[in-house]
Amino acid sequence: MSDASAGKALAASTLAGKRVLVSAGPTFEDIDPVRFVGNRSSGKMGFAVAAAARALGAEVVLVAGPVHLDTPDGVTRIDVRSAAQMHTAVLGALPADAYVAAAAVADFTPRRVSEHKIKKTAGSDTLVLELVRTPDILAEVAAHARRPALVVGFAAETHEVERYARGKLANKRLDLIAANLVGGAQGGFERDDNALVVYWEGGERQLGPAAKTEVAAQLVQLIAERLQA
Ligand code: CTP
Repeated sequence: MSDASAGKALAASTLAGKRVLVSAGPTFEDIDPVRFVGNRSSGKMGFAVAAAARALGAEVVLVAGPVHLDTPDGVTRIDVRSAAQMHTAVLGALPADAYVAAAAVADFTPRRVSEHKIKKTAGSDTLVLELVRTPDILAEVAAHARRPALVVGFAAETHEVERYARGKLANKRLDLIAANLVGGAQGGFERDDNALVVYWEGGERQLGPAAKTEVAAQLVQLIAERLQA
């Protein structure tokens, strides 16, 4: 713990009257009618954040990529598949007091979706897929006319976690960034536990290692403190 307030329990009405928007899970970018480009995000962290915000009394809207998870009680869920759909759903759900971008949004999507299943071509051992950048939902929300008071990003890094996370904090004009180390045995994708370091201008707080539900509760506690500050 790098500051004293971490770990203090908050009342169930701490976020009453606040609207919290969360995006969670992967996005799937279609290549043809049977194939897509995806990633290993389970959505568990974002769903746990949504549940934790609801538990503190917030109105919660959860924009979910394709995941196999039950909707937390009392949470409004909007299901999407692609980065483009997530972009539309998130911007359409503004205004909000806080936005937590826990989704692993595809950075690239196929330039075109083939109408028919792509067939192997005789004599060719390679297939070139042209990918184009997707909109950066988080950066757009942070620059939006209806910008939430608190915009929270996630950064999954394999090395130099603080440097890259603080770079994203500044470049995307975020209030908080929750960084986790991925790859190796430390945590991140496809696990039930996690450890995050949350950075902001002039501070940081270590959350976990603990169950994702506990780490999410600690993150929402930090969000509540910052919204009240
Ligand atoms: N994000 C987003 N829209 C995108 C891509 C990412 O909103 N098209 C959000 C994610 O939800 C997450 C944060 O941005 O909160 C991740 O930042 P990003 O710079 O995209 O991380 P990486 O994809 O890991 O970037 P890099 O490859 O540069 O490390």
